[in-house]
Amino acid sequence: MTLLRRRPRRLRASLPLRAMVRETVLNRDDFIVPLFARAGREEAREIPSLPGQYHYSVGRLAREAKAIRAAGFPAVLLFGIPSRKDARGTSAWAASGIIQQAVKAVKDAAPDLTVITDVCLCEYTDHGHCGLVRKNGKTWDIDNDATLPLLGRTAVSHAAAGADVVAPSGMMDGSVAAIRSALDGDGRTATPILAYSAKYASVFYGPFRDAAQSSPRFGDRSTYQMDPANADEAMREIALDLEEGADVIMVKPALAYLDVLRRARERFDVPLAAYNVSGEYSMIKAAAEKGWLNERQAALEVLTAIKRAGADLLVTYFARELSDRLGP
Ligand code: PBG
Repeated sequence: MTLLRRRPRRLRASLPLRAMVRETVLNRDDFIVPLFARAGREEAREIPSLPGQYHYSVGRLAREAKAIRAAGFPAVLLFGIPSRKDARGTSAWAASGIIQQAVKAVKDAAPDLTVITDVCLCEYTDHGHCGLVRKNGKTWDIDNDATLPLLGRTAVSHAAAGADVVAPSGMMDGSVAAIRSALDGDGRTATPILAYSAKYASVFYGPFRDAAQSSPRFGDRSTYQMDPANADEAMREIALDLEEGADVIMVKPALAYLDVLRRARERFDVPLAAYNVSGEYSMIKAAAEKGWLNERQAALEVLTAIKRAGADLLVTYFARELSDRLGP
């Protein structure tokens, strides 16, 4: 007879036993549901690169938001697709812009749903960059500091429309400080900032850019989004955002950056969010469509891994589909 004192399999023998020793459980309260608002009367148009996700009219969006709250989710993250884009992204801060209308409608329909808004210019600029572009003969660059007041203005307009939390995603240096002082200057000292602190220049945003029609017309985002090769730098970015007044920090994308999430978890004692981005969603969808893997299992495994790595909050397009598999 083999004498093994240690047999890890003992605690895997049954479903209830496995549940008792499970270390990571996905709860409804961990989830932030991203939604896209678009002007116009067409109620819902499926986004081809994001199967199962839609562009919603404002009215329809409000009904979806209400259903999301009724399903027990605490928060949505809203993106707007404006009908008009220009070089400065003017409609990002227009009082009657698409996102401002969407926030109002959602807060009316579901007052206790936390509404988080994406604060960035890329959906609103005709060139598709996240900051103002300064042309210089044949070359161009991003005018970081001229962008900051516009981000402040945009955040204030979101808060004025009723947004509960603002989420700067443009990776401009100093954006958290600019937004904090703009909000405070408007008497909105209680509005938290969820900072996309470590946001990488990732190919996994591809489907989102189709959805938001926000691909840069020229160049790419690698002068402002982070190099996927760097993790120490992510710690510096997060530390800076916290110094500037960020309340919640985020790592994005999630799946290819689990080490960054883990390091952030160990280093910073603040709520940590992870964005399971569009490409991470669509690749599971596509493989499942081909019959190559089980979609729900794959989504649950990935999201559990993201939480296990250290994330407290998960932004994911899968949230609603997994509703029946989540804890309270
Ligand atoms: C920028 C923004 C992007 C995403 C969220 N906010 C796109 C980008 O940086 O190009 C990507 C989200 C996703 O891929 O799901 N406003």
